[in-house]
Amino acid sequence: MRSASNGMEDLSLIKKSFFDEVSKAGNAMELEKVRVAYIGRNGRLTAILRGLGEMSLEERRRVGPVVQALRKEMEDALSLAADSSPLVVGHSVDLTAPGKKFNRGHLHPLTLAEKKIREIYQSMNFSVVDGQEIESDYFNFETLNFPPNHPAREMQDTFWIKQKNAEKLDSKHRLLLRTQVTATQTHYLMSHTPPFQIVYPGRTFRNESVDAGHEFNFYQAEVMVVGKNITLANLKFTLEEFFSRFFSPKKIEFRYRPSYFPFVEPGFEVDIKLNGKWFEVLGAGMVHPRVFEYAGYNPYDWQGFAFGMGLDRLTMIKYNIPDVRLFYSGDLRFIKQF
Ligand code: DAH
Repeated sequence: MRSASNGMEDLSLIKKSFFDEVSKAGNAMELEKVRVAYIGRNGRLTAILRGLGEMSLEERRRVGPVVQALRKEMEDALSLAADSSPLVVGHSVDLTAPGKKFNRGHLHPLTLAEKKIREIYQSMNFSVVDGQEIESDYFNFETLNFPPNHPAREMQDTFWIKQKNAEKLDSKHRLLLRTQVTATQTHYLMSHTPPFQIVYPGRTFRNESVDAGHEFNFYQAEVMVVGKNITLANLKFTLEEFFSRFFSPKKIEFRYRPSYFPFVEPGFEVDIKLNGKWFEVLGAGMVHPRVFEYAGYNPYDWQGFAFGMGLDRLTMIKYNIPDVRLFYSGDLRFIKQF
């Protein structure tokens, strides 16, 4: 039987050599060897723990807690060392190995175009405004001067929302998926006081058959400026400044063709010439007096202009994309090029 004082001397020796060995262990495998040698089934400290049974009660009370505390200290030291040592048993880290490549997400080309539009207009002191994708007939058509049964409604094939007794609902309650972000105009006019200048990009829907140039789901961005003494010259400047920046550094030319949209007078379609080719890119005009009246304004007090463009189309022109369906195809070979 060991004497108590001997037991304590043994402990301090064991402790010292344990920490020496831990500090020399270079990897997980070597640490494991140290663990087995000290606190494994036949380890040196384990042997002393077993010997406690043979000690007198008094000695056991004195030595027991010290041995247990040391065991705990060893376990802590081992796990601390394991945290900072290479995990792969028997190998060190190869610092020359090439790193793992990870795939980074990135923005969709339509999102990129929308961001660019926001950026350009914000730099011109416009506010970016959000509309809603589900609209009423009232905001999508009626207040934009499309009377019921007006033939101009047929220019925009509409997805109507299924509703009970739909034919009996008034235009404020008859719901649809907006066919044009122009639906945002009356909402904004009604809730704000001019002068203001806004841009409202967003998703639109039309019940059309899909081909390379048409999607039933697409994006538009529209601009509206309302104030005193707003003229066509302001429209022209705002429009041309935007397109020049959007397609910069390419030079573009503009062509204004008279056209009809119920919510503007006069109305135009605007084409741009890029790389020697003409593209029809937007509708534009001076806000129609009826639109002001619907929103509760006196049309003699205020003037405004608006123009709306197809975001898909602009993006296709900018990046030379031949088919609008690619945007919505989820095809990574396409998406990854941006
Ligand atoms: N909302 C029209 C469309 O979707 C485009 C448009 C034409 C917007 C003329 C305008 C405008 O703001 O003045 O076909």
